[in-house]
Amino acid sequence: MSAIHKISILGKESIHCGFNLIPHISNTLLTTLPSSTYVLITDTNIAPLYLQPFIDQFTSDLSNVPTAPRFITHIVPPGETTKSREGKAEIEDFLLSQKCTRDTVILALGGGVIGDLVGFVAATFMRGVRFVQIPTSLLAMVDSSVGGKTAIDTPLGKNLIGAFHQPEYIFIDAAFLATLPKRELANGLAEVIKTAAIWDEDAFALLESSTATLLDSLDSLHPSASHTTSTTAFGLSHPLLSLIISSITTKSTIVTYDPREAHLRNLVNFGHTLGHAIEAFLTPYLLHGECISVGMILEAELARMYGPETGLGQVGVGRLRRCVEGYGLPTSLTHPMVLRAQSQSLAAGGEKMTLPSLLAKMAIDKKNSSSRLKKVVLLSRIGKVHELRATGVPDEEIAKVLCAGVRVVAGTPGGYVRPALPEPLRELPGVEGPVPPQMVYPPSTAPSAAPSPANGVPHITLSTPGSKSISNRALVLAALSGGTVKLKNLLHSDDTQVMMAALEGLKAASFEWTDNGETLVVTGNGGNLSLPPAGTELYLGNAGTAARFLTTVCTLVPPPPPSAQSHPTVITGNARMRQRPIAPLVSALTTAGAQIRYLGTEGCLPLAIAPTGLPGGTLELDASISSQYVSSILLCAPYAAADTTLVLTGPAVISQLYIDMTIALMRDFGVHVTRGVDPTTGLEAPNVYHIPRGTYTPPSTGEFTIESDASSATYPLAIAAATGTSCTLSSIGSSSLQGDARFAVDVLRPLGCTVVQTPTSTTVTGPPRGRLCALGGERELDMEPMTDAFLTAAVLGAVATRGGAGEEETEGGKGNTMRIRGIANQRVKECNRIQAMMDQLAKFGIKTTELPDGLEIHGRPLSSLKNGASIHCYDDHRVAMAFSVLATVVDGTIIEEKRCVEKTWPNWWDDLENKLGIKVIGVDIPTAPTAVHSSPVKRPTASASQTPSVLLIGMRGSGKSHIGLLASQSLSLPLLDIDAHFSSVHPPSLRAYVQTHGWPAFRAAETALLLQVLSSHKTGWVISLGGGIVETPEAREALVRFGKEGGTVVWVQREMEEIERVLEGEGERPAYGESVRSVFERREPWFEQCANYEFGNYTKGVGSTEGGLDGEIGRFFGHVSGTTRNLVPRGQGRSYFLSLTYPDIVPALPSIPELSIGVDALELRVDLLSEPGSSSPIPSHAYVSHQVSALRRVTSLPVVFTVRTVSQGGAFPDTATAEAVSLLKLALRLGVEYIDVETTLPPALIKEVVSAKGHSQIIASFHDWSGTLRWDTPSMSGHYAVAAQYGDIVKLISKATTFADNFTLQSFVAKHTSAPGSKPLIAINMGVQGQLSRVLNKCFTPVTHPLLPSKAAPGQLSFVEIQQALHLSGLLPAKQFYLFGTPIAHSMSPTLHNTAFTTLGLPHTYSLLETSSVGDEIKEAIKRDDFGGASVTIPFKLDVMPLLDALSPAAHKIGAVNTILPLAGGKLYGDNTDYLGIAASIRTRVPALGAPSAALVIGAGGTARAAIYALQTIGTKHVYVFNRTAAKAEALASAFDGGSGARVAAVGELGAWDVAPSVIVSTVPADATTLVQSSSSSSAVYLPPTLFDTSLKGVVIDMAYKPSRTPLLALAEDAAPGWARVRGVEVLLEQGYVQFEKWTGRRCPRETVRERVLEKYDASA
Ligand SMILES: NC(=O)c1ccc[n+]([C@@H]2O[C@H](COP(=O)([O-])OP(=O)(O)OC[C@H]3O[C@@H](n4cnc5c(N)ncnc54)[C@H](O)[C@@H]3O)[C@@H](O)[C@H]2O)c1
Repeated sequence: MSAIHKISILGKESIHCGFNLIPHISNTLLTTLPSSTYVLITDTNIAPLYLQPFIDQFTSDLSNVPTAPRFITHIVPPGETTKSREGKAEIEDFLLSQKCTRDTVILALGGGVIGDLVGFVAATFMRGVRFVQIPTSLLAMVDSSVGGKTAIDTPLGKNLIGAFHQPEYIFIDAAFLATLPKRELANGLAEVIKTAAIWDEDAFALLESSTATLLDSLDSLHPSASHTTSTTAFGLSHPLLSLIISSITTKSTIVTYDPREAHLRNLVNFGHTLGHAIEAFLTPYLLHGECISVGMILEAELARMYGPETGLGQVGVGRLRRCVEGYGLPTSLTHPMVLRAQSQSLAAGGEKMTLPSLLAKMAIDKKNSSSRLKKVVLLSRIGKVHELRATGVPDEEIAKVLCAGVRVVAGTPGGYVRPALPEPLRELPGVEGPVPPQMVYPPSTAPSAAPSPANGVPHITLSTPGSKSISNRALVLAALSGGTVKLKNLLHSDDTQVMMAALEGLKAASFEWTDNGETLVVTGNGGNLSLPPAGTELYLGNAGTAARFLTTVCTLVPPPPPSAQSHPTVITGNARMRQRPIAPLVSALTTAGAQIRYLGTEGCLPLAIAPTGLPGGTLELDASISSQYVSSILLCAPYAAADTTLVLTGPAVISQLYIDMTIALMRDFGVHVTRGVDPTTGLEAPNVYHIPRGTYTPPSTGEFTIESDASSATYPLAIAAATGTSCTLSSIGSSSLQGDARFAVDVLRPLGCTVVQTPTSTTVTGPPRGRLCALGGERELDMEPMTDAFLTAAVLGAVATRGGAGEEETEGGKGNTMRIRGIANQRVKECNRIQAMMDQLAKFGIKTTELPDGLEIHGRPLSSLKNGASIHCYDDHRVAMAFSVLATVVDGTIIEEKRCVEKTWPNWWDDLENKLGIKVIGVDIPTAPTAVHSSPVKRPTASASQTPSVLLIGMRGSGKSHIGLLASQSLSLPLLDIDAHFSSVHPPSLRAYVQTHGWPAFRAAETALLLQVLSSHKTGWVISLGGGIVETPEAREALVRFGKEGGTVVWVQREMEEIERVLEGEGERPAYGESVRSVFERREPWFEQCANYEFGNYTKGVGSTEGGLDGEIGRFFGHVSGTTRNLVPRGQGRSYFLSLTYPDIVPALPSIPELSIGVDALELRVDLLSEPGSSSPIPSHAYVSHQVSALRRVTSLPVVFTVRTVSQGGAFPDTATAEAVSLLKLALRLGVEYIDVETTLPPALIKEVVSAKGHSQIIASFHDWSGTLRWDTPSMSGHYAVAAQYGDIVKLISKATTFADNFTLQSFVAKHTSAPGSKPLIAINMGVQGQLSRVLNKCFTPVTHPLLPSKAAPGQLSFVEIQQALHLSGLLPAKQFYLFGTPIAHSMSPTLHNTAFTTLGLPHTYSLLETSSVGDEIKEAIKRDDFGGASVTIPFKLDVMPLLDALSPAAHKIGAVNTILPLAGGKLYGDNTDYLGIAASIRTRVPALGAPSAALVIGAGGTARAAIYALQTIGTKHVYVFNRTAAKAEALASAFDGGSGARVAAVGELGAWDVAPSVIVSTVPADATTLVQSSSSSSAVYLPPTLFDTSLKGVVIDMAYKPSRTPLLALAEDAAPGWARVRGVEVLLEQGYVQFEKWTGRRCPRETVRERVLEKYDASA
């Protein structure tokens, strides 16, 4: 046993920390807490690891105690579900059964769950017994075990029932952490970070700088070694233990001052108010610490918002965010981990996180006393809080940090002042004597009032974020200087942060933030640097500038005295940094005498730099790669041993502007660099610099202001311009070297602003509001020198008018035009910015014209701009900030993704309020509903641009380009083909590049391009990669990382013979020079390693249903990207899956449609597969993958993937656990929707599968074949708890021995499914006696079919049998359905619906109710108890509306009802499925079409309304309406145009469109169209052969019911054979399927119904 550190809490040293404490625990308890019984309670995860050593130790020690006490143990299931009333009762029953008395001592060995639960049991058992905490998780060690809070959860909330009950001891044994999963470690670290953030800046600094050390120190604990021996070497100095001790010490201090959480103890809830609300939605998908991590950042942002009062600035928020991120914890509600957890939770039937729902959860948090104010701990800086308790913050302010979007309230700058916070509590009542420094507050200063408009024009003065290049240079100059300098306006970024940390590590300077983080005080050490301790590294992340500058700075460290040991300074970075070049700089320095070694890859970091001092003299440097090498030497040269002459060599000096910037800044710090002189000409030599020796001296004012980033500066200036006010930027002016600094003079002045510039400041005064002058079409704005500022110019162009007169533009006039040129590069920035501006400006009613290298904006008077536009920002900071400028003058503008400003101006929205006095309001941006439904119309969950990009890898010839195209269409994401991209970056072609430079150079360039694309195209793209991309380790590493960070990498596979066939004779790309097969063999393991999904693009033996592959692609990519999931809807009646028991699915493919009638999913019993030609009972991955693919080509139903073992009733060998798990993982990689995981697998393996499940759902199943396990025993509840921990669906199967077993099963189901949020449960009794349980089971009942070779389990019934049984039992009463309308005698609807009822075994009937008006007969029918629903046709679609209680949004918008549905309570609901029929006809015919760019609707009546609505729901961008009477088309178009749907416009003639339609829907009678062009006055619409763009694969629909071949369809058949043709009767069918599904909740048996209906239709045609 090593040393023990004791910490005092509540006056007693009861917290003992160290390693390997079991002997100490036993000894301490037996000697200080005498008892008759010691009970240790732990969970099933901990027991196998640590229980035995406790038993051994106590058994041995107890033998020496004369009273011979008992030591008993009890094991409970792990996880949050155990922390329940049932869990508590179970332990209490155990204690009672063991006859435990009041002197019992209970030991809680485990994580926070065990600690909270067992602590609460101890608090109430026998009115309270003694207990001891032995936490095993980091979270429990540092937080939950300390402070005496105990609790259990209820379905209505976490920790709502509990007690304060202090443990007698808390034993912190860090050796337990050896087995803690890494994610759990980070989970605990979140609480450590929290404690440091509120109280202990030093501890926080350690956490910031020791990320790698801490994470590695966990590895050093040797996970697999035995507890007692492995960690004996560690002492109290182990980094993790020291951190734990410091964190506990803080918490103990706080608890001691305020044990019952009256005020000070609130502080440990930092991050918890928002964090707990998030946790309420995302447990168990996000861990407690992960939720708190997001909560901390959001609460810190709240404190930053109140910055003028709390003092917290962006420095503090930035530090907190970087620290949290360093440990892999999430930081925002849009972080991939959070989004993934949210979608998992939704898929499992969870609630969606929205602003109101989050605020509602906060309102029931026990910490909040008022409903409108929420208690939040506000930081004032890192390590200190605003007040000594949580502060009441209004919901309105909290909304701003929680919401994805903001609404900017149009107004005058300076007009808004935020209401102040309540008076802070800064002294604790009743506390006397010395208090910790954190509790001492300086006298408070009143917050300065916001600027109030003076007489005349309101005027704002501010500075905007500093330039990154200048910030980094100024830090080095100030640190090397021999004095103190206040750096103002320094940029707060990762780069500057690591630069400061490294300079501090070299003792070059000390840093201190003042003025709320606005000013950094740097005390330089005059260039006297110290060697960092041996074994430490200066870690620079991915900060390129810091790495380059510091390489030379490190050479300045002087050699140590001869007596002292010398070692080099090591600088390193993250994986990306370790690939970035630094060789030219290192070689220049070493040639001059410095000693620098590469520790990793030659030419890259890490570097070992010997303390030699910089020699000086003449240095030669190749400056053709980066000017940062030049700046690095220039900055350090004054401290060289001798004067330095720097000679730049290489083909060309790059970025001279930055070299000039360095020299100018050195001059500001007193060192004058001179240029060399050419001795022959006497003229200045451009590439030779003389740097004299010297010491930097800070400017005499003691201050140095970093010039603002010129692009950021454009926004406040533009606000002044637009609002007619005045704004002075104090830190950018005419002397700036930044291109965008010309914006004020070159753009704003011509628009009519008054611009006054000094060398270091700029003041802009706008003309009166609404009076910006347009430049006119003739004058161009060449923005080539300031391309990033074009977006700011463009929004001003939108409100600039001729001569500022505010006139409406006349037709074709150019007066109000702003023409911007020279910005072609903006198409390839964060997004295509030119397109983005065009699309978003259109929302204000602004027209634009795209130019090859620019954009024309046609301005309009301010008053005519549309209010309330909702701006999509494409995750581009500049789009967001530019439109917030426009929002200050156009009311109601919403910026949808407010967080994208974080890239350059994280506190932009705060500054807009606090500094510019413009109010903003948080806006919850609704995303489309994520719940799944079986209708073919599915909407993406998140905006497409947020979807992590989807990468395709695989052999050349495997079909990546084709699949990529279809995937991009179905996901509505753009496609990037990296080979094509390569050719455009390295013209003329990829092939030429290889020929000129060779393969190695090509691979290097390809990898570099990949890295660049992965960083610039993280979200919103489908990217098809070259076959050889996996050849370099860097590329493989990048792909794996991309997958791990939430991206999707799909390996497209195809049969080898097919690939060979495709590649034969292909000449476009360079040949391999080796056989395709051997290339594949080499790459196969790499593809597997890099991809997280696999898609089988097989061609053989997979069936060839029309559209099969397209449909499969749509579903697969919807699933893997998480945008649309093909899952069975929850909570909408009963669901079934069919167990396919075939040894090979392929021969059965033709019967699948018939077999799957009625069911919601198909189960592939992988254990029953028998691979042809193989004697192994285990099928190969290739075979299984092929089977899955084949199945998916013939069905759109989701697949349940099951590998049932022999002991669980299947055929898979029980011993082949690894193979079973490997198949389950394959299923996840194949994107299978449901995976059955047996809970009898080893927990570690189950966790492996569950943690990799992505968007798949887990069915956690347990089967008891013995018939001994009864439903009313704790044992069955235990199986439920274990399954519920892992599964999204729980499946428990037992065997009935008596009929009554079905009733105990029913009570079990009722008990376990009644709680809100409980998991769906499949509970079945096998055997004939148990058949009733199959009838009654509601969720995913496994069914068989008479055509199947065998039943999957004894007693299995078919779907139809179950429906009949339900009917006979009274659970499925017969219903009457009707068709209302006239004339309807020939309607196909009765055939359609009655066929479906019969096929599914449903007892309902559908009949005609023909009446002349909506009268008594109809009213009577809809009031009947057995009324099931009705179809409504012409002429009653409007007339029925008054009889209904509610209308669907679709019926409302279309203005017609065609479907009536009875609701609970006798209410009637009117819906419209016509549009769904049209939408489904498009989707199912060409699934890969995705959202069409453009569509045409012919006609302007009621059906046209349904067609437009349908097109809008599938995301069509432009809809053209054509009608013979143009006025009707105009009226219809304007009724649907606008909002967030498609743009709808009337066209005067067919063909008059910008974008050719890929969907055409005719809603006029067939005889109203003609293919004959005649000059006669025929009233029929002439359909020209050019109507169809034959380059597209589109869909044409003729809604006309008769004839079967209308002129439009005939034309399509001849002119556009590639288009899918849809007859009116087909739309009727599609509409009918949806109607049927809405009425019955069951999929319509489409094939059977279709066959019967078409038979009848054709017979009558
Ligand atoms: N009482 C308080 O003041 C307080 C404070 C914070 C959190 N909490 C509560 O704590 C709970 C969360 O605690 P947690 O994160 O420890 O969860 P947990 O108890 O569920 O433990 C996490 C998982 O890790 C396993 N585990 C624990 N130690 C292990 C080890 N050494 N090796 C291998 N596996 C190990 C557990 O079996 C469990 O599966 C929540 O219920 C939360 O409400 C309470």
